[in-house]
Amino acid sequence: MGLFSKKEEKEPARADGFVRVARLKDIRPGLIREASAGNVKLSLTNAGGNYYAFAANCPHQGWPLWSGDMKGELVRCYLHRWQFNVRTGENVAPGMPVCLPTYPVMVEGEYLFVNVTGVEKK
Ligand code: FES
Repeated sequence: MGLFSKKEEKEPARADGFVRVARLKDIRPGLIREASAGNVKLSLTNAGGNYYAFAANCPHQGWPLWSGDMKGELVRCYLHRWQFNVRTGENVAPGMPVCLPTYPVMVEGEYLFVNVTGVEKK
């Protein structure tokens, strides 16, 4: 299910590369929402009033991160419980070099925008 009405989906592409992905009111604190920017699937969250966008799937074995949980800036994957900082992408487990892809966000009006320029589309 899309996050927008048909009218809202028709926004033209922006020159700065940011894409409107959600209404702020739909990204509740501590929860994880699925979204997409073009063909790139994302996870969105609100941690302490700051918005973050990161990969839809865990970089370990691809489990969907919306099924995990948030604690502050940390998202915990449901499958093997790895935790990542959603601001930096850092894997907080000692010695784990695998990081979470994160994306720049921007708030404009009542909407969240994400820039996925340069991300390989799947
Ligand atoms: S698939 Fe996420 S921690 Fe293993």
